[in-house]
Amino acid sequence: MKGVILAGGHGSRLHPITLGVSKQLLPVYDKPMVYYPLSVLMLAGITDIQIISAPGDVAGFRRLLGDGSSLGLTLTYAEQDKPRGVADAFLVSADHIGDDSVALVLGDNIFHGPGFGELLRSSARDVDGCVLFGYPVRDPERYGVGETDAAGRLVSIEEKPAAPRSRLAVTGLYLYDNDVVRIARDLRPSARGELEITDVNLAYLRRGKARFVELGRGFVWLDTGTHNALTEASQYVQILEHRQGVRIGCVEEIAWRMGYIDRESCHRLGRALAGSPYGRYIMEITEDRAAGVRGAAS
Ligand code: TTP
Repeated sequence: MKGVILAGGHGSRLHPITLGVSKQLLPVYDKPMVYYPLSVLMLAGITDIQIISAPGDVAGFRRLLGDGSSLGLTLTYAEQDKPRGVADAFLVSADHIGDDSVALVLGDNIFHGPGFGELLRSSARDVDGCVLFGYPVRDPERYGVGETDAAGRLVSIEEKPAAPRSRLAVTGLYLYDNDVVRIARDLRPSARGELEITDVNLAYLRRGKARFVELGRGFVWLDTGTHNALTEASQYVQILEHRQGVRIGCVEEIAWRMGYIDRESCHRLGRALAGSPYGRYIMEITEDRAAGVRGAAS
């Protein structure tokens, strides 16, 4: 399975901050925002990943993450010349996806919860159709909303409905079989001029090939698209990291625990960042006596 991180967009709700810098390079507490969606794909077992951004921003992502080899990944970069919509990702990344299945994650979404890695790996196995992840929210009318029947099967998806049929928002993580590229090619722009991910998901729903995995209340799903949401996400990460002494979205740690790099290489990545608590954390967890004591990365 290939991975795609969609990290372009207008960022208009974060103006003026995003006039000068890509939203997905902004800090969420102690690390750049893009580390969180990258962690999600890494935990799913995906190592061949493309990051899509606005043309002027590719250099920043490349400076940050390079070709990914230090994390045991293959990272490539693609430009979306204009924000044509989330489903445009499959057209921009068609060559990268090739004949494979694909996981798309929005670059401003944060997921965290117990057993998330295992849930992802099992959901990503042999995807036939699409797998969407639902999360209960207080204000479903702001999101794509999924409705399930008594057996838990997905029966409808509505984009920002005035009268939502459920509280389950469709989150910004989507797994697809290879048909998604063909489906995206046939899409027409919506009234707001975008290729809508909801239209892709509806195409799978009509075929009876859309699975909906509900993330329980122990999970956290945050998006970081507004000033308040960005601040709250930083506070969440800060509180959890201080309280538990573990890090959320530490890509070096995940690379090591997933077996993409060995302990020595991980330690070296930490040493290069030793001026920060983030770097010292990586050094500490990869020292012999600490290794394996802390829980798996999530
Ligand atoms: P949105 O939050 O829908 O929009 P946005 O980031 O453009 O911000 P705003 O609404 O404040 O103007 O986008 C969700 C994610 O998808 C986000 O990470 C940006 C990304 N995106 C693209 O990369 N290209 C696109 O064409 C669109 C619509 C979104």
